[in-house]
Amino acid sequence: MGLFSSSTKEVPVAASMPQHLAIIMDGNGRWAKKRFMPRVAGHVRGVEAVRGTVAACIERGIPYLTLFAFSSENWRRPADEVSFLMKLFVKALQDEAERLNNAGVRLRIVGDLERFDSDLRQAIAAAEALTASNSTLTLTVAANYGGRWDITQAMNRLALESPAKAGHYTEADLATYSVMAHAPEPDLFIRTGGEQRISNFLLWQLAYTELFFTDLLWPEFDAASLDNAIASFQTRERRFGRTSEQLSLASSDKQVQQPDA
Ligand code: IPE
Ligand code: IPE
Ligand code: MG
Repeated sequence: MGLFSSSTKEVPVAASMPQHLAIIMDGNGRWAKKRFMPRVAGHVRGVEAVRGTVAACIERGIPYLTLFAFSSENWRRPADEVSFLMKLFVKALQDEAERLNNAGVRLRIVGDLERFDSDLRQAIAAAEALTASNSTLTLTVAANYGGRWDITQAMNRLALESPAKAGHYTEADLATYSVMAHAPEPDLFIRTGGEQRISNFLLWQLAYTELFFTDLLWPEFDAASLDNAIASFQTRERRFGRTSEQLSLASSDKQVQQPDA
């Protein structure tokens, strides 16, 4: 299957698409175990699911995709799995950078990158530089990332750069220093693998994100699975604290003021 082919014929209309999709790609190990394969074989297949998901987001006009690849807690895994994941990460960056660039993808890697080896840091810098001016899809990969780490590093940088404002920092001030400051807050969050938890992913940004959990294991996730999640998202009423009645009033006002909108 090529980068831009899809297993689904119907692509939903762009207007009701989430603008930012954030995914916890979970279940690689269980996918492999079910097939009597080593856990790492699941990670290899997981890269294929990433490729398919990137293509599906581009086809659907979703401009931001954020993927949780490695958490700050994943260092607790057996050393051989961690080192396999690091090598796979370098290889995927090297293999995919050109293809992503040709597809108009801007790649951002967010997390505490200092803990990574220099070959990985170089591969990250090269892929980011190559794709920096693209705008079709911003693909953010969270690696050695933790939501609490991000809030803490943002707080420390803000305090260092604006000490005079201490005691009066605003939410907007802090958000500027988040490693996710380049993206809007996610509209839709998907977690594969059956667990219903956030696992220290985008703690700050998920405040009003619609959550979708699926038992599918990450290597099984495809364009049709994405469409299921989007269909669920499209049935949600996002109230942001308001009442349902206020929302229908606002939308009928809008229709009166802007008949073509
Ligand atoms: C997610 O799959 C990938 C990473 C965390 C790197 P897992 O490796 O967590 O797979 P399961 O949850 O053990 O099946
Ligand atoms: C979350 O998956 C992190 C990534 C997918 C990178 P985990 O498998 O590490 O999460 P827990 O340990 O089940 O919460
Ligand atoms: Mg897991």
